[in-house]
Amino acid sequence: MTTPNPSVTYANYLQLEELLSLQQPRAEGPEHDELLFIVIHQVYELWFKELLHELDRVATLLRGDQPHRAQHTLKRILTILKVLVAQLDILETMTPLEFLSFRSRLEAASGFQSDQFRQIEFVLGAKSEAAMARFASNSRARVALERRYREATLWDAFLHYLAREGYPVPAAHLSRDVTTPVTPSPEIQDILVDAYRKDAKTQGICERLVDLDEGFAEWRYRHARMVERTIGVKPGTGGSAGATYLRTTLGQNLFPDLWEIRSRL
Ligand code: HEM
Repeated sequence: MTTPNPSVTYANYLQLEELLSLQQPRAEGPEHDELLFIVIHQVYELWFKELLHELDRVATLLRGDQPHRAQHTLKRILTILKVLVAQLDILETMTPLEFLSFRSRLEAASGFQSDQFRQIEFVLGAKSEAAMARFASNSRARVALERRYREATLWDAFLHYLAREGYPVPAAHLSRDVTTPVTPSPEIQDILVDAYRKDAKTQGICERLVDLDEGFAEWRYRHARMVERTIGVKPGTGGSAGATYLRTTLGQNLFPDLWEIRSRL
């Protein structure tokens, strides 16, 4: 009988053999830059996984009335977002012709089909039934998205936190349909102005949420610019109008009330 070797090594802890076998260029050749393209996308998906893990943590901490720890976790999320934006610089070293050398091999594949990106949007309140419907019924992605679709958003967790802190959040906001977009509310804005003036702890969370909104918008903007410089206004492999579609996703605030109050402070 052989005794199993119980020792943990760097390679087996990280499942390196499996991890390093997962980058499989499709182009015959293979085209030099395709490996970079695959690695960058895989790294993004890993960061998306970590972001979802941390976003869930923020909501749990807010529900548990632990605002300082929630702020700390938000800071980590923002730091990851900065890395996500910075990674686009690497991809921008790829010229349009280098990308075209293997683009046809992507067929209909596109970041458009990243369910984890859609999950992040859903947690942040940008829910879309149409985006969910693009994933096959009962697939891992669809099940995860359906769960996120029904779940309260980060903004809802924050409103409940405000109510527990004694702010007069109207009941209609606390029992709102969480599948619908957050619309600006004068009542919530009055509460936020009040909190900014007298409550440093809540103001701190608000500022980190604005950072998050800005950080996410920054990724969208940089990605859209990168797409335009790489493929111009050609349609995307995912079937959209490409850069023209991506432009329509810019300039939308995730937490509109936090933006509305700026001119009143
Ligand atoms: C040369 C590099 C890239 C090009 C040319 C490109 C192109 C595009 C295009 C044209 C779209 C619009 C949807 C469609 O395909 O029809 C799109 C969407 C998207 N891409 Fe990229 N992309 C690139 C890199 C990346 C990277 C590295 C990521 C990271 C995961 C990414 C994630 C996304 C996401 C999440 C969407 C959906 C955005 C939305 O619907 O708001 N892309 N991309």
